[in-house]
Amino acid sequence: MSSTNPEPLPRAPAAQGQAHRRLASILVVDDNRAKATALEAILAPLHQNVVVAHSGRDALRALLREDYALILLDVKMPDIDGFETAALIRQRKNSEHTPIIFLTAFDQAELDMARGYSLGAVDFIFTPIVPEILRAKAAVFVELNQKAQEIQELFYAAQDANRFKSEFLNMAAHELRTPLSVVAGYLSMLSEGTLGQTPEAWRLPIDMLNSKTGELNRIVDDLLLASRMDVGALPTVTQRVDLSKSVADAVARAKPRTTLLDGQVRVEVPRRPVLAEFDPDHLARILDNLVNNALTYCRTSPKVTVRVVAADSPRIEVEDNGVGIPPGKEEAIFDQFVRLDEPSLGPIPGTGLGLYISRQLAERQGGRLVLERSEPGKGSLFTLVVPAAPGVDGHGRAAAPETAAGEGGETMRPYIVNGT
Ligand SMILES: Nc1ncnc2c1ncn2[C@@H]1O[C@H](COP(=O)(O)OP(=O)(O)OP(=O)(O)O)[C@@H](O)[C@H]1O
Ligand SMILES: [Mg+2]
Repeated sequence: MSSTNPEPLPRAPAAQGQAHRRLASILVVDDNRAKATALEAILAPLHQNVVVAHSGRDALRALLREDYALILLDVKMPDIDGFETAALIRQRKNSEHTPIIFLTAFDQAELDMARGYSLGAVDFIFTPIVPEILRAKAAVFVELNQKAQEIQELFYAAQDANRFKSEFLNMAAHELRTPLSVVAGYLSMLSEGTLGQTPEAWRLPIDMLNSKTGELNRIVDDLLLASRMDVGALPTVTQRVDLSKSVADAVARAKPRTTLLDGQVRVEVPRRPVLAEFDPDHLARILDNLVNNALTYCRTSPKVTVRVVAADSPRIEVEDNGVGIPPGKEEAIFDQFVRLDEPSLGPIPGTGLGLYISRQLAERQGGRLVLERSEPGKGSLFTLVVPAAPGVDGHGRAAAPETAAGEGGETMRPYIVNGT
């Protein structure tokens, strides 16, 4: 049996100003019909949905139909009593946390209460029931339930907004790609002289346009990648990669920029190949991001060390002498679009997606990317841990004696790119 209170009574204080809120349901379980009706009347001013059940079995059936903000449960009932009903209620997934208030005669002593609490009772109300007290207590649980629902709705709305943002970014990046490639194509024809002799005075503007188009391309690429990752549509091809080789390639790619910034990149790799299981393109992207950051966020000539460490889970460390990350921002830099304000560096182009993308790529392939340590004004150390390739240990060997230096202690092959 179910009943919604008909007469328009004044709204309970807890529900005032919340007309848009969904009605909460309260389940009243009492075998005594007169008592159940009295309880319904007491709860009526709350203007919620009150459902009455006259037995434990009825109550369990009602719980199959909907979720409740509160259950008022008479302890003394024939057939299955209130405590047994509570035990069955707790066994069900959708009611394992529903607050239960036991209604009981005054002479039922402490032993019952201990059992009731062990069954997850939130309170006991003794007869004779004081209507104001019961109503006030019920109002608290209605309020709690409505707040929980609001939070859940906000969560879903945020998820929807996030999905919408990802879809928009994806679409925008796609739309930008075609015109960008046309611009880049004509620019390269102009710089190669395919369209005829290019006047000397055009050289500089064309170079500038070329470099800015490259920047734009990279931004569009990052936007596309980030939005693909958000919707879980990023193809990944993992294979056996030699970390030392990937590092050497990344450092070679960074060479023009290293020279431009009058910087130095030192590479330290073990003599033996360190084999990991990872998508090589994604690894290249992560390394490019880390090395570029290390070169970029630096006030003086950047001095960067890229180290491959053989270990059970092999890792790559990128260490710099840059501006460092202020305390409290160590995790924020891995969020989308987060860029730190460092006035001493002046404006630096970027989207704040590099570390976000890098961490996502690492984690999706069983790896990890962390800021190991950083000291403002002194520098930072980022560590990328990747899964070892199957069949070899993370030291890149099938079976070989341990070196005295322990983890990663095999002889290193250091070399320097663009020493100043
Ligand atoms: N090695 C570093 N030293 C100091 N600060 C850094 C370092 N790496 C990253 N940061 C800070 O973290 C922010 C986020 O870095 P992230 O690589 O995600 O984005 P970005 O470099 O701003 O832009 P892009 O998407 O082009 O990489 C940077 O803007 C910078 O403030
Ligand atoms: Mg970056």
